[in-house]
Amino acid sequence: MVTENLSPDELLTTTRAVRKRLDLDREVPLELVTECVEIARQAPTGSNSQGWHFMLIDDVTKRKGLADLYRQGWDRYLNAPGSLPDTISTQSESTGKEANHNDQMKRVLSSAQYLADNLERVPMLMVPCMEGRNDQMTGPYANAVYAATYGSIIPATWSYMLAARVRGLGTAWTSAHLIYEQDAAELLGIPYDKFTQVALIPTAYYMGENFRPALRRPLEESLHHNSW
Ligand SMILES: Cc1cc2nc3c(=O)[nH]c(=O)nc-3n(C[C@H](O)[C@H](O)[C@H](O)COP(=O)(O)O)c2cc1C
Repeated sequence: MVTENLSPDELLTTTRAVRKRLDLDREVPLELVTECVEIARQAPTGSNSQGWHFMLIDDVTKRKGLADLYRQGWDRYLNAPGSLPDTISTQSESTGKEANHNDQMKRVLSSAQYLADNLERVPMLMVPCMEGRNDQMTGPYANAVYAATYGSIIPATWSYMLAARVRGLGTAWTSAHLIYEQDAAELLGIPYDKFTQVALIPTAYYMGENFRPALRRPLEESLHHNSW
């Protein structure tokens, strides 16, 4: 049931990665997230394949198993070159926009660490999967096939997150458990050779009132008109 009255632009500009504001003590009804999945299935899908699958997990043991895999993946990510901590400057003299960006990255790291530490406590986890595996693809078609595969599940997953938001639920896109995707597949009974997991979306009621648009890099850095 929709509880938040947001304009389309408000919804699109304020649906944040929610981690510290997830209510870990309030149960999320299966029917409510099923509604979000139903809406997600209206997203575009390559060749109208509809090969998407949405795995909802509220079982305590499976949540714990997934959280353990997530933490292993998260720790590996933290130690990899170019990971979030690497991008945070330790120089105190940074000023203006640079300092704002640095502060934002520190907040993201602290929030992401909180999620990693508490993931099994999030009442509902959603793992979106897509039919097929492209692990070994190379050559001229590879990019088109990868793009079609991910492009047929990522828009739907974002729709799930938007549908959740207007129902008072917070979510965050996460990918750290994918380093251990095969172990997660075994835990959840997903046929690993036939289906690709693309994310893990913690889902819980959010606490507090408003979310704000995030600070983004200047528009000119990402907008191109007619030529790059
Ligand atoms: C492909 C992708 C992977 C991500 N992986 C993780 C993750 O493993 N853990 C996490 O806490 N957040 C993860 N995030 C969330 C980002 O950190 C978050 O979207 C970003 O900091 C911007 O914050 P905002 O979504 O609130 O604007 C991921 C986001 C994307 C799009």
